[in-house]
Amino acid sequence: MQQRQARVAVIGAGPSGLYAAAALLAAGEPMSVEVLDRLPAPYGLVRYGVAPDHVKMKSVIRVLQQPFEPAEAEFPAVEFLGGVRVGEGGVPLDVLREHFHAIVHATGSSVDRALGVPGEELAGSLGSGAFVSWYCGHPDHTQLRPVLDHPGVAVVGAGNVALDVARVLAKTPDEMAATDVPDPVLDVLRGSAVRDVHVLIRRGPQHIRFTPAELRQIGELANADVFVHDDGLLAAGVEEPEDRRHRQMLDMLAEWQVAAPAGKPRRIHLRFLRSPVRIVGADGRVSGVVVERNEIVDGRVVGTGEQERIDVGLVVRAIGYDAEPIPGLPFDEATGTVPNDGGRVVCDGEPVPGAYVTGWIKRGPTGVIGTNKADAVETVAALLEDLPGLPAPAHPEPAALRATLTAHGQRPVDWSAWLRLDAEEVRRGGTRGAERVKVAELAEMLDAAHGATTTP
Ligand SMILES: Cc1cc2nc3c(=O)[nH]c(=O)nc-3n(C[C@H](O)[C@H](O)[C@H](O)COP(=O)(O)OP(=O)(O)OC[C@H]3O[C@@H](n4cnc5c(N)ncnc54)[C@H](O)[C@@H]3O)c2cc1C
Ligand SMILES: NC(=O)c1ccc[n+]([C@@H]2O[C@H](COP(=O)([O-])OP(=O)(O)OC[C@H]3O[C@@H](n4cnc5c(N)ncnc54)[C@H](OP(=O)(O)O)[C@@H]3O)[C@@H](O)[C@H]2O)c1
Repeated sequence: MQQRQARVAVIGAGPSGLYAAAALLAAGEPMSVEVLDRLPAPYGLVRYGVAPDHVKMKSVIRVLQQPFEPAEAEFPAVEFLGGVRVGEGGVPLDVLREHFHAIVHATGSSVDRALGVPGEELAGSLGSGAFVSWYCGHPDHTQLRPVLDHPGVAVVGAGNVALDVARVLAKTPDEMAATDVPDPVLDVLRGSAVRDVHVLIRRGPQHIRFTPAELRQIGELANADVFVHDDGLLAAGVEEPEDRRHRQMLDMLAEWQVAAPAGKPRRIHLRFLRSPVRIVGADGRVSGVVVERNEIVDGRVVGTGEQERIDVGLVVRAIGYDAEPIPGLPFDEATGTVPNDGGRVVCDGEPVPGAYVTGWIKRGPTGVIGTNKADAVETVAALLEDLPGLPAPAHPEPAALRATLTAHGQRPVDWSAWLRLDAEEVRRGGTRGAERVKVAELAEMLDAAHGATTTP
């Protein structure tokens, strides 16, 4: 008797989706796996979030691409269907369900959170999602072109994204030219008038969410000195954190506080116990941020009412992310996740047959790339356990899926087309002395992928 060939779709080609695809292949079951992403390029935030100067970090791509290029011949390759949006403006989820036994949703969390302070709507007030996407060459954000004509910038938050943004703004244009930032981004960075980057941290040094390697990097910048402003907290002695990495960071901050500045052209100010309460503008553009001084009372942040103004032309909020709901699936607004039990989507306490989640859409916007591996393995284990009992799809033939995609106006970028775009980026990198230079405009990405002539 012929074994049933299960068909599984993974929506989202970021780390969690690709770790899920790898785990599905590794199960060794008769199965075809298709990975759909709304962008023509795979890798999610590894491509559009990880800072351009974190080149080593991006080498995880060699692992993430393995499902598309299996080293062992007995594994069938996973199919990549890039440039295919699922949901609004693309293929409706209920239509896609007719083609698969199971769908793993790995669409991440890409919506910027708001601070909820007056002035947030002014030009020059941006979320880190938009700002980072711009410098990473995300096709949705090529038009952002932030104006860097003011010496001051405020970055709100005490996580690694805040450090990424501060570092990118503090580096020299030549340092950034050696990365993969698109040429128009490099032009803006070359013209930057930024001198002082103020990182606004609402709590104290003992509460930071940075990691030591990332914090150390801002202390090693060729172009910027670091200043620690903590209202004397460190000198007075903060409670010794249990975590060794946290202790390392406190030592680093204490060392910087007493070090003599080297007089480098740019400065990063770590301003502890400060919350933005208002963004002020002139002519519709950000001209400053008003911050309130906080105190820590019983471990809680309490505003003192004391305010000061910092002159800045740009405010970037790096305060975390929300997810977009997936039409057709339940959604928890409070956590920005799809309710699930170990990866099985749950609605009114019951599992939704054939629906699974992994990555940030499953557990919220925290965790490094590697965190998504165990997370995906857990989800795939649940899927494999359920698979024998899942109903067969109405249209299991691959040709039927292709016809559906065409009917919904989607022209997929397959793996070989992505490799053409990839090769074009590497070629452009060669002309700038970088490993690659991103192609950011969607039309240009598609031209390069589909083999049309590209601009030099
Ligand atoms: C700015 C930033 C920098 C980071 N830097 C690092 C770092 O240096 N090191 C580190 O270890 N971790 C880093 N992280 C964390 C890491 O990137 C995440 O843990 C990881 O990317 C989450 O993976 P994911 O697959 O859940 O989501 P994502 O990586 O966001 O992938 C989601 C994918 O789904 C696709 N998608 C979304 N909606 C749809 C749809 N409707 N239809 C089809 N496709 C869709 C998206 O295009 C995307 O490709 C960073 C995070 C951020 C925000
Ligand atoms: N190189 C790397 O490894 C790397 C790089 C980038 C990102 N990442 C990972 O990706 C994940 C997301 O990073 P992230 O930086 O976006 O998130 P994060 O680590 O959760 O940090 C968010 C920060 O925003 C602050 N915040 C939230 N709301 C605020 C408000 N209203 N006002 C002022 N501050 C506010 C938080 O302060 P409180 O602490 O006071 O709540 C916190 O410091 C993290 O797990 C991170 O480690 C890793």
